[in-house]
Amino acid sequence: MPLLAIETSCDDTCAAVLDGPRVLSNVISSQSEHERYGGVVPEVASRHHLELAVPVVDAALADAGVTFGDLDSVAVTAGPGLIGALLVGLSTAKAIAAPRRLPLLPTNHLQGHVAANFLEPDPLEPPFLCLIASGGHTILAGVRDHQSFEILGETLDDAAGEAIDKAARMLGLGFPGGPELERLAASGDPEAFSFPVAMSRDPGLGFSFSGLKTALVYICRDLGEDGTAERAADLAAGFQAAVVGQLVSKVGRALDAEAWPAVALGGGVAANGPLREAVSSLCEERGIPFKEVSRELCTDNAAMIGSAARFVDPLVFPDYLSFDAFATGPRGGR
Ligand SMILES: Nc1ncnc2c1ncn2[C@@H]1O[C@H](COP(=O)(O)OP(=O)(O)OP(=O)(O)O)[C@@H](O)[C@H]1O
Ligand SMILES: [Mg+2]
Repeated sequence: MPLLAIETSCDDTCAAVLDGPRVLSNVISSQSEHERYGGVVPEVASRHHLELAVPVVDAALADAGVTFGDLDSVAVTAGPGLIGALLVGLSTAKAIAAPRRLPLLPTNHLQGHVAANFLEPDPLEPPFLCLIASGGHTILAGVRDHQSFEILGETLDDAAGEAIDKAARMLGLGFPGGPELERLAASGDPEAFSFPVAMSRDPGLGFSFSGLKTALVYICRDLGEDGTAERAADLAAGFQAAVVGQLVSKVGRALDAEAWPAVALGGGVAANGPLREAVSSLCEERGIPFKEVSRELCTDNAAMIGSAARFVDPLVFPDYLSFDAFATGPRGGR
């Protein structure tokens, strides 16, 4: 029986229909209006979710060839994320589930990024090591079951995606900056400028990206506006290489510390080609399988929420009517 999943934690309005680990539809409507502000404006995001939620759910049902009457449960992102944005998705899910007396499956967004790896084709079974690198988080996750993960290390300051978006903005690129920075970097020389390799002497599994961002600010200041525009490709390549270098070195360190049987990625930054190639090479060197999840399952989507929801304890009607979303909070998956 199909499950409907809804994800509205940031600026993408997403709905998906799943049959177990099989994705029957996965609809994502990204809000382009944030581009002119150079970042997501929470109130604008919430209002757009209100407009988009119903058409996106309708599209997901139509793509899957099912109706509301066919559903057996409704999953929804409960947090972490922008609270107003989350509440639109949660209210939509309750409004669909309650009249039909369907169970509600409140799901953790970060567990969703991990659970993208549980989907067909080629589902990965725990235990495995997962690098979650997204707009709001950078976490080395020890995944030992389907419900949760252990935080082995995380960023001490900015998230990798946040740093990439800020760098892209300094280089005059649009928002979100990741895909554009990757495109520009492809024609640049990653060694033309020297960027600090942060945390390289730190024996732990933490990350830091704020120093890298500051290094770019100073280089751009020295180059001036025209010089920065002229050397933008080299700057993008150097910055991207420094981010990827740090992420991969910490994956290597986590593999030194514990014999994980497989490595996976999750979160929007995991869509980055050079990162995927670098982690894949590292795994090949170590003789460990690397699970390459598709790029569209890395950035925010509802299929990953439906995947995680399969392992969530259901809430029954009417208990969930007063269930609340959370902006920050449990990050270990539960
Ligand atoms: N090809 C890419 N290369 C590098 N970064 C990318 C790429 N594609 C997307 N990103 C980055 O991924 C981030 C968005 O990821 P995601 O949608 O998972 O974040 P989020 O949901 O806002 O944050 P979180 O998951 O932490 O709550 C953005 O910072 C974006 O620039
Ligand atoms: Mg996300």
